[in-house]
Amino acid sequence: MSNIVKIFNKISKFNRTIEVGGDKSISIRWVLFSSLANGVSKAKNLLMSEDVLAAIKAVNKLGIKSIRTGNTIKIYGKGIDGYNYKKNLIIDCKNSGTLGRLILGFLIDTNHPIKLIGDKSLSKRDFKRITEPLSKFGAKFKLKKNKYLPLKIFGSTNLKPIKYHETRGSAQCKSSVIFGGMRTNGTTLIKAKKSRNHTELLCQHLNIPITIKKNNNFDEIKIKKIKKIKPVNYNIPSDISSSAFFIVLTALSKNSKLLIKNVNINPSRIGIITILKKMGVKINFEKKKIYKGEKIADIRILSPKSLKSINCPKNLNSGAIDEFLVIFLVAAKAKGISYFKGLSELNQKESPRLIWGNNILNQMGIKTKLTNDSIKIFGNPNNKITRKIIIKNYLKDHRVFMTSVIAALSFGGSWEIHDKDSINTSFPNFLNIIAKLAK
Ligand code: S3P
Repeated sequence: MSNIVKIFNKISKFNRTIEVGGDKSISIRWVLFSSLANGVSKAKNLLMSEDVLAAIKAVNKLGIKSIRTGNTIKIYGKGIDGYNYKKNLIIDCKNSGTLGRLILGFLIDTNHPIKLIGDKSLSKRDFKRITEPLSKFGAKFKLKKNKYLPLKIFGSTNLKPIKYHETRGSAQCKSSVIFGGMRTNGTTLIKAKKSRNHTELLCQHLNIPITIKKNNNFDEIKIKKIKKIKPVNYNIPSDISSSAFFIVLTALSKNSKLLIKNVNINPSRIGIITILKKMGVKINFEKKKIYKGEKIADIRILSPKSLKSINCPKNLNSGAIDEFLVIFLVAAKAKGISYFKGLSELNQKESPRLIWGNNILNQMGIKTKLTNDSIKIFGNPNNKITRKIIIKNYLKDHRVFMTSVIAALSFGGSWEIHDKDSINTSFPNFLNIIAKLAK
């Protein structure tokens, strides 16, 4: 079957209710926590994408059994010291930075060295940002060119608690150090720039000894060694990052309405909602509830008559970090110049996304001004795409693929988008939902 999607027509107006897959960040965290629990944990609506399947396979390799029946999965944890594996273990993190970085925190006292590998995209991403703090606990690492996968972790039996200042706003780095702290005698202190807090919420739900003091721009976290994790049954809410593609499709379509059910609206994840509302999109949360500390709601979106440009405040960056590619599309259609800054982290993702966002917009005929960490987008509500657009060689970044599909359906023109299978990383059902909306 062809791995290329060709799109020639805009989508017609729609009025639908949809459900997207389970939240990827929560799914991976649930797998990792459950693997160390004392007993059986069960999850429903766990995201069955390649990133999460890689996490399940990783804990399987560490000697933890799992059984999947339909969209329910059970993980048979054997306690915090329950991993059991042979020498020369290799864990393949595939495309998942979250898996690779988080799992290292759990392995700082491994008694056999373990090798971590990943796909072409993950092998270009910075792992030093995580091995540096974890080394301070006492673990040792060998990385390719001191920074990249493949890496080898050598555990220590003499771990010391650390003080760590997380300055990038990376939830992966913060979470990995929290996991390290959970395995180390004494109190680990973390000062972390604001980022998604699913790890902290799960710790609190599990009565893990964590304290969090929230300040304006950063959190102070204290974490102590744990003896036990109780099993946790979890009904995973839908992913706001997957919802984002359809929120933007509605924002860019005429006279359309969409309801997305049961989405995680954790305040540390809804930067896109704040940004799009400022740009004139009508978005409401309905049936709000709290589940295991996480906020959940149905999201209703109405397509707006017109869109305003934005000078996006930097403090919204971390809460929208995975959504900027689609946010740039909204800026392309808005009246006026939009400015997004402080975004060097975007070029550290599955592909250099600031560059790719710029590339897609330029191919569409939208004028931009790009720097290492910012982009100005000269919006043009009347832009017409006149040349054929080909999107390929983007390191199979799932979000580049899905953003291109949304652009094609919203702006028209003739598009050829390669590597369709990239969606399996985070959102295998993406094209089925597109087909439902296009019917
Ligand atoms: C994630 C954190 C973010 C995000 C990634 C998922 C997580 O990465 O981009 O898709 O689940 O912790 P950083 O922590 O590198 O910002």
